[in-house]
Amino acid sequence: MCGIMGYSGPRPPLPLLVSGLERLEYRGYDSSGVAFFNDRGSIDVLRAAGKVSILKERVGLLEGHPGAAIGHIRWATHGAPTVENAHPHRSGPIALVHNGIIENEQALRERLKSEGVHFQSETDTEVLAHLIRREYERTGEFADSVSKALVQVEGSYALAILCQDAPADLIAVRQGPPLILGMGEGESFVASDIPAFLHFTRQVYSFQSGEIGLIRHGEVRIGTLSTPLSSWKSPVARTISWDPFFAEKGSYRHFMEKEIFESSRALMDTLADRIAPGNLLPELLPLAPFPPPSLTFVACGTSWHAALLGRSFMESMGIPSTVEIASEFRYRPLLIPKGSWVIGISQSGETADTLGALELARKEGFRTLGISNVPGSSLERESDLCLLTHAGPEVGVASTKAFHSQVALLMLFSLALSGRNHETHELAALTRSPHRLETFLEAISPERYDQVVERLRHSRLVMFAGRGVDYPLALEGALKFKEITYHPADGYPGGELKHGPIALVEPGVTIVAPMVEIGLRQKEISNLREIRARGGYVLAIGHSIEESQRGIWYDDKIDLPDGPVWSGVFQAASVLQYVSYRVAVALGNDVDQPRNLAKSVTVE
Ligand code: G6P
Repeated sequence: MCGIMGYSGPRPPLPLLVSGLERLEYRGYDSSGVAFFNDRGSIDVLRAAGKVSILKERVGLLEGHPGAAIGHIRWATHGAPTVENAHPHRSGPIALVHNGIIENEQALRERLKSEGVHFQSETDTEVLAHLIRREYERTGEFADSVSKALVQVEGSYALAILCQDAPADLIAVRQGPPLILGMGEGESFVASDIPAFLHFTRQVYSFQSGEIGLIRHGEVRIGTLSTPLSSWKSPVARTISWDPFFAEKGSYRHFMEKEIFESSRALMDTLADRIAPGNLLPELLPLAPFPPPSLTFVACGTSWHAALLGRSFMESMGIPSTVEIASEFRYRPLLIPKGSWVIGISQSGETADTLGALELARKEGFRTLGISNVPGSSLERESDLCLLTHAGPEVGVASTKAFHSQVALLMLFSLALSGRNHETHELAALTRSPHRLETFLEAISPERYDQVVERLRHSRLVMFAGRGVDYPLALEGALKFKEITYHPADGYPGGELKHGPIALVEPGVTIVAPMVEIGLRQKEISNLREIRARGGYVLAIGHSIEESQRGIWYDDKIDLPDGPVWSGVFQAASVLQYVSYRVAVALGNDVDQPRNLAKSVTVE
C-alpha cells in the first residue's frame, strides 16, 4: 500500500505532486510528504501526519523549483503514523519515497548503526536512504549507487529517489509493488497508479519487477539492477484509453458516489467488443484445453464475492468451479483436478495474496488467468492470459463499479466456456444489462432512501442474508456496510440464519435481504418470517415484492424493475452500495478513505 509519485520536467512540481497524491490517497492516508528542490538548489522536505489535505496546507503557495521532485502517501507498516515516520526519508544528499517492506531491515539497521549511522525514524525505509548515501559517497555516481545499495536489500519496494547533486534526475525502481511511468512532452512522471498523472499524459510504461529507470525530463532509460547504465534502453510506451474525467469527482460529493453511478458505463465498456453472438470473449480462443475440466477462482475482498457469483454462473452452465480466498489457498495443498484453470480476480491486479496464489498454481503447472481492471498490472503480466475489465480507474477505497464489471465479465466467461455463444436468454439479458442498470440508476431518488438510512443507521446490528446469487450479494452488502459505516455487519446464506445467527435477532436488529433469485424466494421468505417472529426488522430488495405482504414477511422494501437474474444482480448490488454510502455519509464518515483500509493491499 502507500502511494509514491515522482516528476522530472519543466513545471513547478509541488502543485502537480499534491494533486497526484490526492488521487493516490486511496492507497493510504496515515501521513504524506514531498521532497523538491528550492531556488537555492538544495532539497527541501515537507511532511505531515494525516491526510494529504494537511500536507496541502503546509505546502500552501510553494511551487518548488522545476526539475525532479517526489511525493508519498503512507499506510503505516513499520512505525506509527507520525511526522518522523512520514516519507520522504533523507540521508545527506539522498531523499527517497518507498512503497513496500524491507525484510532484512533489522540486520541492515544494526549494521548501519554499528558503523555510526544515526536513525531519525522507526521505518524500514530509512535504511535505504542511508545505504544509498553510503554507496554514493563511495562512487559519486547516483544510478550506480542505487543499484549497489539495493543488491544488499531483501524485500519488496517501489522507490522514487532524488540526489542533491543532480536536480533534474529522478531514479525509480520496482521490485514487487506497482510502478508506472507516464511519458509526456519533455517531462516524465512515475507513480503507483495511473490516475496520479492521467491529466498530463496517457502514454504509459509499467516497470517490470527488477527494473530501474533514470529519468531526466522527457528522457528515460531503463535497465536492471545488475546491468550497467550504458546498456539501459528507452522504454516503449503504450497509450491507455482511460478518460481523465474518471479521476475527478465532478459534481459528486465523493468518488464512491460517482463510481456507483458509473457502474452502467463500466458494464458497457467491459462487454463492448466481446459480446458479438457467435464470438464471445474472443481473447479465450487460443487457450487449451478448451473448455477446461474445472475452474478454481482465487481472490480477496470484493473480488472474492464477484468470484462467488462467477461460480453460480459457471455451475448454471455445467462448468465445475470452486472459489478460494487467496490468502488461504496459497498455504494449502494444491489438490485441484489436472487441467483446471486457476483464475485470479483482482481489481488492482496488485493484491499480494492473489498474486501469490496464482504463482503457486503456475509453478504446479496449472494454466493461470487473471481478471484485472488495471492495464499493465502485475496480474496482467504474471498470468498466462489476463482479461481486463474496463471499469476505468476506481478511486473510492470501497469497490463499486469494478465489482459490477467483474461480475459481467464472469457472466460472459460462463457463456463463452459453455459454448452458449449464440442467442440464449442469458446472453440477451447480459446484453441489455448496461442499459437496464443505467435506467435504474437514473431513477434513484435520494429521498426514497432517507427512511432506510435512518433505520440502518440506528439499528443495533445489521445482518445481510440471501440464498443462491443473493448470498454473495449479501456478503458484499455486509462488507460495504462495515467498510464505510464502521458498524458491525455480516452476510449469511439465508438458510444458515437458523443455525446460529438468529440468536442475535431481537428488536433493533435489521436484516437486509437481496431477493434477486426468484427460484429460491419462497425458501428465503420462510427464513425472513423466522426473523420477524423474533422482533427483527426486514428490508427486502427485489422485484415483484407484493405490497400486501408488508408486515407479513418484510417491513420495508426497495423495488427493483421486473427482469431476469442476470440484470437483477447488478441493480441489487447498486442498491446495497448506495445504501451503505448514504449511511456512511449520514454518520459523517470519510467515505472515500475509510479508516484502516487501503484499496490495494500489496503486503501479505
Ligand atoms: C482491499 C480492499 C478491498 C478489496 C480487496 C481486494 O482489502 O480494501 O476493497 O476488495 O483489497 O482488492 P483487489 O484489488 O485484489 O480486487
